[in-house]
Amino acid sequence: MTELILTQPDDWHVHLRDGDMLQETVPATARCFHRAIVMPNLVPPVTNAQLAAEYQARIQEAIPSGKSFTPLMTLYLTNRTTTEDIVTAKNSGVTAAKLYPAGATTNSDAGVASLQQLYPVFESMAEQNMLLLVHGEVTDCHIDIFDREHKFIEQHLQPIVETFPTLKVVMEHITTKEAVQFVSGASDIVGATITPQHLMLNRNDLLVGGIRPHNYCLPVLKRNTHQEALQEAVCSGSRKFFLGTDSAPHEKHKKESDCGCAGCYSAWSAIELYAQIFDDLGVLDKLEGFASHFGADFYGLPRNTTKIRLIQEEWTVPESITLPNGEPIVPFHAGQVLQWKLDQAFSG
Ligand code: NCD
Ligand code: ZN
Ligand code: ZN
Repeated sequence: MTELILTQPDDWHVHLRDGDMLQETVPATARCFHRAIVMPNLVPPVTNAQLAAEYQARIQEAIPSGKSFTPLMTLYLTNRTTTEDIVTAKNSGVTAAKLYPAGATTNSDAGVASLQQLYPVFESMAEQNMLLLVHGEVTDCHIDIFDREHKFIEQHLQPIVETFPTLKVVMEHITTKEAVQFVSGASDIVGATITPQHLMLNRNDLLVGGIRPHNYCLPVLKRNTHQEALQEAVCSGSRKFFLGTDSAPHEKHKKESDCGCAGCYSAWSAIELYAQIFDDLGVLDKLEGFASHFGADFYGLPRNTTKIRLIQEEWTVPESITLPNGEPIVPFHAGQVLQWKLDQAFSG
C-alpha cells in the first residue's frame, strides 16, 4: 500500500495554549484535523462560558485562511464550579468539562481537591449531555507516580461511573492495562483517548541511556506490558478507544531543565505518527476508525465528510521549530524518520 485515503480525522485532546503561541499551534492542528477538543488548562484556566467563548474567538483568529477547523471548547472544573456554570456553558456551545485533580499536571493548581463535592455538577452534566473528560491520576504524595492512574480508577472513576450511569466519560490519555480493562468493561458511554507517545514508547524510552525530557509527559510512560495493552486496544478495533494527541507544547528550555515540564508537542506529525504505529502493528485498516470515526460517534457528532490522503514517503521530523516568540521548541520524535506523510495538496 502506498497511499491511504481517510475520512478527515479529529483530535479529541489537544493543548493550543494562548497568545502568540496560537499562531504556531492552530495551523499545526488545522493542517490535518477538522475538529479538536481544546483543553482549558490556561493560566488562569477556562472556568466559565464567557472565558471559553473569548478563548474560542482567539483560536478562530489564528486559523489559516482557506482551512476549515472547528475548535470545540471545554470548561475547567474547580471546586467552585456550579450547576449554573454547566447549564450556561452548555447553552453557549461548550462541548465538555475537564476534571484535573489539583496538582496532577501542567497548570492544574486550580483543579479539584474534593471530588465528592462536585457530584451535583456531574449530575447536571449528565442531564445536559455534557461530557466529562478526566485526567485520571491521584495526586497523593505517598502514591507512587507509576500507580497513580490505576489508583484513580479504583478510588474515583469507578464510583463516578457507577453513580452517574448516564454521564458520558472520556478517560484521557490512558497509559495502563488497568485503564484499558476498565474502559473495555464499562458501559458504551465510557471511552478513552490514546496518544502517539503512549503507543510508541515505554518508560525505557524515558530513562535508559540518559533522561529524555522530550519523552516526558503525564501520565508518565509506563512499562512495556502497559504499552502492549494500549496497542492491543487499538488493534482490537474497539470503538471505545479513539485519537487524542495530547499535543502539549513547552519551550525547549522549559523541557531541558532541572525541573522539566510535562508534555510532548506532536501536532506537526500527529497523523503520521499514528499511521506509523498502526503500520508497525500491521493494522493500518484500523486507523480510520480510531482516527476519524469512533471519536465523533462517541461525542454524538457527525463524522467528517472531507478526506485526507497519506502517502508512503520517508521524511524526518524537524529537530527544532521556532515559536512566534523566537524561542525554540523540540517536537516529539524530533530527528526521527516516519514512513507516512500527509499530502497537503490533496483536498477531498
Ligand atoms: C499537558 C500540558 O502540558 O498541558 N501535559 C502533559 O504532560 N500531558 C497536560 C495534561 O494533559 O495532563
Ligand atoms: Zn492530562
Ligand atoms: Zn493533555
